[in-house]
Amino acid sequence: MNVYDSDRMQSILNAKGFRSEPELRKADVILINTCSIRDKSEHKVLSLLGELKGLKQKDPKKVIAISGCVGQRMGRTLLQRVPHLDLVLGPDAIDRVAELIESVVDRGERLVEAKFDTEGRKYSQPCLVNRAKPSEFLTIMKGCDHFCTYCIVPFVRGREKSRSIEEIIQDVKNLVAKGTQEVTFLGQNINTYGKGTGQKLSELIEAANKVEGLKRIRYLTSHPRDLGEDLITQFGTVEKLCPQLHLPFQSGSNRILKAMARLYTQELYLNKIELLRKACPDIALSTDVIVGFPGETEEDFEQTLKVLSEVKFSSAFMFKYSPRPGTKAMDLGEEVCESVKEERLARAQRVVYSQIELENLKYRNQIIPVLIESMDKKKKFFSGRTTHSKLVHVMNVGEASVGKIIDVEITDSNVSCLKGFYVGAPKTSIKLTANSGGVESGISSSVSAPLD
Ligand code: 5AD
Ligand code: SF4
Repeated sequence: MNVYDSDRMQSILNAKGFRSEPELRKADVILINTCSIRDKSEHKVLSLLGELKGLKQKDPKKVIAISGCVGQRMGRTLLQRVPHLDLVLGPDAIDRVAELIESVVDRGERLVEAKFDTEGRKYSQPCLVNRAKPSEFLTIMKGCDHFCTYCIVPFVRGREKSRSIEEIIQDVKNLVAKGTQEVTFLGQNINTYGKGTGQKLSELIEAANKVEGLKRIRYLTSHPRDLGEDLITQFGTVEKLCPQLHLPFQSGSNRILKAMARLYTQELYLNKIELLRKACPDIALSTDVIVGFPGETEEDFEQTLKVLSEVKFSSAFMFKYSPRPGTKAMDLGEEVCESVKEERLARAQRVVYSQIELENLKYRNQIIPVLIESMDKKKKFFSGRTTHSKLVHVMNVGEASVGKIIDVEITDSNVSCLKGFYVGAPKTSIKLTANSGGVESGISSSVSAPLD
C-alpha cells in the first residue's frame, strides 16, 4: 500500500512540475513515506531523519517531509522532536502533498496535516499513475475495523472506507490501455471491501474478470474470518483470478489467537485452507506469522509450527512481535524475551524454508508462463512471476520481453526463486547462487536471490 501511495504522491508532484531527483543531496524536497507496523520500521525513519540534519544545515531552504503512518502516529510530536523537519502528513493527506509542500516553500511554515477522513463508508480516489507497469497495485479501500490487539493499522489508517466498483474498473481499464497485464487489488482487510456501500469484493473480481486485455487478478490482504464462500469459490471459477492467496494466520494457538482478538481458531483457519484447496487444488498459499506475542509459551508456539508444517505455504512473512504504542497488547505484560523470540523465529523459518525449497524443486523441467516485469540492474536477466506468484529469473530474454507473458522452462531453483529459459530462444547459461535474502526479521520466498 505504501508503494501505491508513494507512486500516487509522485504523480501528483510531477503534475505540479516537481521532478524526481534520485540523489538525496541534490533534491530541494525530501519526502519520506513511512511505515509504523513494527518498531524497527519506525526506527529506520528516525535514524534517516537524523542523517538528513547535516543536509538541512548546509541548505536551510531544503524541505524535509514525512508522510504515511509514522506521520499519522507521531504528528506534532515528530515536528517537535526533529527541528529540521518541515512537514508531517498522514495517509489521508497524501492527495494534498503538493499544496502542503508549496505552503512550506512559499511561507516557510512548518506544518502538520494528520486528520482522518471520517465521513461515511465511501471515498473516491481515482488512480493517477500515468505510467503503467506490467503488474500494478491498485488500492480499493483504506483503513481497518478489526483492532487485532498487536496492530497499529486501525490507529494510523482509520476505519474501513471503500472506493466504488465503477471507479476501480475505470482505473483497471486505463491501466490495461497503457499496457498493464496484471492488477493486485489492495486493502488492509480486503474481504470486507464495500462494507456499508452495498458492493462486494466478489462482484469487483467478476467485473475485473470481464475487462478485455487484463490477464491476471490478485488481491491482498485477506482475513481468515472474513474470507467468505463466494470468494473461495471464485478460485475455481474465475478465469483471470490467479491461483494464489495471502491468508495470514499469525498464530496456531487458540489461546494466543484469542489474546490477539483475531476472531477465529486454528480449526477454522485449517478449514478455510481445506475449502480453498477443494475449490482450487493447486492454489499457492502465503501467510504472516508473529512469534513471541505476550504470553506465548513453547506449547503455543508448537501450534504455530504445526500449522506451518500442515499447510505447507509457498511463502511466509514471519515477524517477532513488536509492541506498538496505544495497542491493547502493550498492556498485556508477559513479554517474551528477545532471545526466545529469535529462537522461535529461526525455528519457524527453518520449517518454511525447507518446504519452499522442496516445492520449488518440483518446478524444475516444467514449462510455465511468466509475466516479465523487470530487468536486473546489469541487464543480465529479466524477472517475472508465475500465476502462483513464484519469482522467476529468465536468462535468455531481452528488454522487449518486459510486459509479456512468455513460456519459461525452469532449469534451476532455490528457496527464493526459480531460474529458467524462454522456450522460444537459445539457452545461455548463468549460475544461480543460493541466497535466500530476508525481509525485516522474516523471510519471503518472493525475495529475489542474486545471480552471478
Ligand atoms: N509486531 C509484529 N508483527 C506485526 N504485524 C502487525 N503488527 C505487528 C506487530 N506489532 C505483522 C502481522 C501482519 C503483518 C502485515 O505485519 O503479521 O499480518
Ligand atoms: Fe491489523 Fe490486519 Fe488486524 Fe486490521 S486485520 S487490525 S490490519 S492485523
